[in-house]
Amino acid sequence: MSIRSARQHTLESAMEAAVEAARWAPSVHNTQPWTFSVSGEEISLKADTDRKLRVGDASGRELSISCGAALFTLRTALRCHGYEPVVRVLPDPDRPSLLATLRPGAETSPDETVRLLGEQIERRRTHRAGFAEVPVPDRLIDRLVRAAAAEGAELTPVRAPAAVDVLASLTRAAQGVQSQDRRFNLEVIRWARPPGSSRDDGVPATGYPRHAVRTDPDFPQRDYAWRHDWGGEGGAEPGLGVVALLTTAGDGREDWISAGEALQHVLLHAAAYGVSAAFHTQVLEMELLREFLRVEVCSGRYPQMIMRLGVTFDDDTAAVRRSLADVTG
Ligand SMILES: Cc1cc2nc3c(=O)[nH]c(=O)nc-3n(C[C@H](O)[C@H](O)[C@H](O)COP(=O)(O)O)c2cc1C
Repeated sequence: MSIRSARQHTLESAMEAAVEAARWAPSVHNTQPWTFSVSGEEISLKADTDRKLRVGDASGRELSISCGAALFTLRTALRCHGYEPVVRVLPDPDRPSLLATLRPGAETSPDETVRLLGEQIERRRTHRAGFAEVPVPDRLIDRLVRAAAAEGAELTPVRAPAAVDVLASLTRAAQGVQSQDRRFNLEVIRWARPPGSSRDDGVPATGYPRHAVRTDPDFPQRDYAWRHDWGGEGGAEPGLGVVALLTTAGDGREDWISAGEALQHVLLHAAAYGVSAAFHTQVLEMELLREFLRVEVCSGRYPQMIMRLGVTFDDDTAAVRRSLADVTG
């Protein structure tokens, strides 16, 4: 093999490995609303709007956050494979579903942190219950705040009990309203996988406990089991963890993509130190409640994600993804 074709070969395998890794990004209801294409020395990340939540996410905000998380994963995986990514976000106004392009730039050797993040890509899991009563070190939270800032978003740990109560109450209100709304219910049911399902998207029945212990204050989960006796074992840990808000200064598509990059940076870093996240984003799907939260709790910044961060000894093993062939075009 000539030197040129050897370099081409390494580049191609790095790009393929990056796309392979990006499939493991978190996405709302595991919709995986993305496609990737590799052409020459460029990876394109496109939104798959057929996978958008028409009821919960009419604006495409959660879809863009999910794709932003895939973008951070692509960037991290390319670095792990020895290339500094050169990224253009929303590069072509005539092609709105083209969210980003990446080119492998200068050769680099990944430092310890990048390698650590890369190792978490397939291991990280969403948690859907309480946490063990083990504190999350302040130093780690500070590091997660810096990780979000590096992507242009703000992660704010919510420490004041009164503010945590407000967030829990809003989550209960949003979950209460959504559970009475046929359209929301149908959408959640559409993305809930029955036990034994061979589907490779949606939330698996083993991805949440059958009987969860309520945290104090209680942050309800989405009702993926909907009247079925679905769910895995576990879920007995009662700890709340650290409640945190991810916000951005603006609320356009670029901000949503940055929020997704920040989310995945935070999650991978947390996972590297044994900390998982549980999400409660029902409030953010309801315009009036989201606006209330923005004005009253987020000092005018736009709330993009609500999460609890904590340590769990419950096994969060269930995760499914579409095949590489299915997400590449
Ligand atoms: C924008 C966004 C919103 C989410 N909201 C919730 C939520 O409200 N409740 C929940 O349990 N998970 C939520 N998730 C997590 C997804 O359900 C999860 O990423 C997906 O099922 C894939 O599973 P994994 O994260 O374990 O790989 C959200 C993820 C994203 C990116």
